[in-house]
Amino acid sequence: MIKIEHLRKEYPNVTPLEDVNVEIHDGDVISVIGPSGTGKSTLLRCINLLEKPTAGKIWIGEQEITDPKCDINKVRQKMGMVFQSFNLFGHKTVIENIMLAPMDLLGRSKQEAYDTGMRLLRTVGLSEKALNYPDELSGGQKQRIAIARTLAMDPDVILLDEPTSALDPTMVGEVQAVIRDLSKTGKTMMIVTHEMNFAKAICNRVFFMDEGGIYEDGSPEQIFEHPQREKTRRFVYRLKAIEFDIKGRSCDFPGMIGEIMAYCIRNQIERKLAGHIQLTFEEVTQLLLAALDDPRIHAVCEYSENTGIAEWTFLYNGPQFNVMASDNDLALSVLKGVTDHAAYTWLEGNEYSNQLKLINRSA
Ligand SMILES: Nc1ncnc2c1ncn2[C@@H]1O[C@H](COP(=O)(O)OP(=O)(O)OP(=O)(O)O)[C@@H](O)[C@H]1O
Ligand SMILES: [Mg+2]
Repeated sequence: MIKIEHLRKEYPNVTPLEDVNVEIHDGDVISVIGPSGTGKSTLLRCINLLEKPTAGKIWIGEQEITDPKCDINKVRQKMGMVFQSFNLFGHKTVIENIMLAPMDLLGRSKQEAYDTGMRLLRTVGLSEKALNYPDELSGGQKQRIAIARTLAMDPDVILLDEPTSALDPTMVGEVQAVIRDLSKTGKTMMIVTHEMNFAKAICNRVFFMDEGGIYEDGSPEQIFEHPQREKTRRFVYRLKAIEFDIKGRSCDFPGMIGEIMAYCIRNQIERKLAGHIQLTFEEVTQLLLAALDDPRIHAVCEYSENTGIAEWTFLYNGPQFNVMASDNDLALSVLKGVTDHAAYTWLEGNEYSNQLKLINRSA
């Protein structure tokens, strides 16, 4: 088991890990996902002490590896790490690359190291390449060798940091297949990946990283089908959001319209849908500004890159008031022309007690 308590990692300009607390069980296969720069690599690098944590404790089994008295090299032998780039020794053959560490660090005999190496080469489907040099292999083959080399140390934990992201797309599948087989062997694994289908297929647990730590930790079903938290939902559904907080009538309306146009261009939203998104905001906001005594409106548009659907949510104060049942016929006919579905909910007791959701018509 790996236990992490109050792990913090600061760099001079940024603190990717603020306070990570988690327990990883033996046999867990964890996909680590999240936006770029949220500390996924940093977390893996802290776990095998390639980075020194600023604060906090990490245990691997009974051993506290953050204890200064701990023998880091011993710890690293129990932890295999596979990187984006393969770091094979160019002047050694494939089999020599795999035999090296077990002979040097574990004191294995040459024969033992060779037998294990050949067995692992068969596992990754490359026994015929044993006597080739790394330069003679494709990227996908090199990464499979790098995985075999990691396995040769028989680590308790395998950490993989975007193992397929440096590969030509045609080679991603063969490396993923090797990792998928590995994930069924009962080894504890953590894999950072941006490939969501792969992440989903191999793991029993997902860490979604954001806001300085593990923002949501759950089963693949939870994270990919029913994410509980806002940022996870936006990430897995590839939702692009724009939000406005309007307080009072003197808001910068043209400025907000400009922001919406820029948002549509940035997310390559096709022109017709972009027009509908903008009109929906204009009409609903104008109706609300006219109707509410002391308007306070929170408006969010979420556009899904997966489905091409854009949805507006308007939260606003005041008495129960469904914009879609107002008596401004002109505004309503515009709104009905640009939306497909409207859902109004009264949220008794909330600061913003009215909620209106509108799905924009895409064509
Ligand atoms: N050695 C370093 N020195 C200074 N800053 C660093 C160092 N390594 C990482 N960082 C910063 O820490 C933050 C987290 O980096 P990290 O590499 O862990 O992100 P990541 O989640 O793995 O991102 P990606 O998905 O792009 O690989 C980033 O802002 C990065 O610039
Ligand atoms: Mg990274």
